[in-house]
Amino acid sequence: MESKWAVFSYILISGVYFKQMRLNKFESAGSEPLGEGDEKKVFVDPKNETRVISERKDAAGKDTPRQLKGRYYLGKIAHALLPGHIPDIYQAGESVDGKQTVDIERIPHSAGQALLQKLRRASQNEEPAREKLEEERLAMRGLDDDLEKIGFGFALDQNAGNYTKDEAGSTYYLETFKPWRADDVDPKELEVLFDEEALREAIDELPDEKARDECFQHLERLLALLGEEKKDTKELQENRESSLLDCKPGIEKFEATIAPFLEEQVLASLHEITSYKTVAEILSNEERNRAKEARDLVFSQLKFLQEKTNITAEDYKALYEKYMTIRRAVGVLNGGIVDHTR
Ligand SMILES: Nc1ncnc2c1ncn2[C@@H]1O[C@H](COP(=O)(O)OP(=O)(O)OP(=O)(O)O)[C@@H](O)[C@H]1O
Ligand SMILES: [Mg+2]
Repeated sequence: MESKWAVFSYILISGVYFKQMRLNKFESAGSEPLGEGDEKKVFVDPKNETRVISERKDAAGKDTPRQLKGRYYLGKIAHALLPGHIPDIYQAGESVDGKQTVDIERIPHSAGQALLQKLRRASQNEEPAREKLEEERLAMRGLDDDLEKIGFGFALDQNAGNYTKDEAGSTYYLETFKPWRADDVDPKELEVLFDEEALREAIDELPDEKARDECFQHLERLLALLGEEKKDTKELQENRESSLLDCKPGIEKFEATIAPFLEEQVLASLHEITSYKTVAEILSNEERNRAKEARDLVFSQLKFLQEKTNITAEDYKALYEKYMTIRRAVGVLNGGIVDHTR
């Protein structure tokens, strides 16, 4: 019944992107992970025990398809530059059911790493394992320096759980490298998380010509993806901005709805309602009901302004504060008390 499990997934292998059928689809459900963190569950590949399959958890948020491909290229380059310290990467893709996975070389767990995973699985205090891992502190920071020299200093995750040591005593960094992320300040831009020049220099120094050529090819593909993603991000943002409505009419409606309830006497008399004997009693208080209706209406007006119009963050904040004033005046019912503080 193998075909029952056959699914199509987009997989990137050796730089060629194609639609691959994965017979015996990797089913993580029910398998015990070899390691787990906040973002990923990592399983031994059931088809090849020298590899692991790292599956991104749903709550961790997804890479864009280009980011995911970029991770593959950066992983290949990093492994070629630091082969005894960065696991090889074999494929990165997304299955039809939306799970993003990366297939990576399996590195043996050091005593500290094994203990960490054991404690984590049992939901026990991880401190003893962290102390053990800290014994490798010098080697870990040395590896960070090497990664920084080749252009990966931007987004290293120095959490001790990301490092292990193989039987030969070589320290490995287990994270893959995110190539870029949305810029915090300017949504039209991307923040690149590798140093292209440092990478080029490091690749240039690779003694093996074939490895050098392959790395430059990976880098070129990565840069092409980055260029496309930058262009798309910019266009998307510009389209969003140009399709936004003028905020003025919406602001006027909001002000007209809320103004009568911001009058001092109205606010004061709403704040005077501090307790009630029966819910029915408070629900029949007409003054409060009118204010409640206005509160709900201005809330939907605010949402509209934020999502559909070109309102500035500053103007939005000012309106939001007015909304909070009416919200507190109406208050929240809580066991016979009208709570005006939330
Ligand atoms: N290549 C690998 N070989 C062997 N074990 C691995 C490999 N990659 C990851 N692991 C195991 O899986 C664990 C979690 O992996 P990873 O760090 O990628 O996930 P994470 O969600 O980022 O976790 P954390 O939040 O602890 O950093 C690692 O601590 C390690 O035990
Ligand atoms: Mg990690």
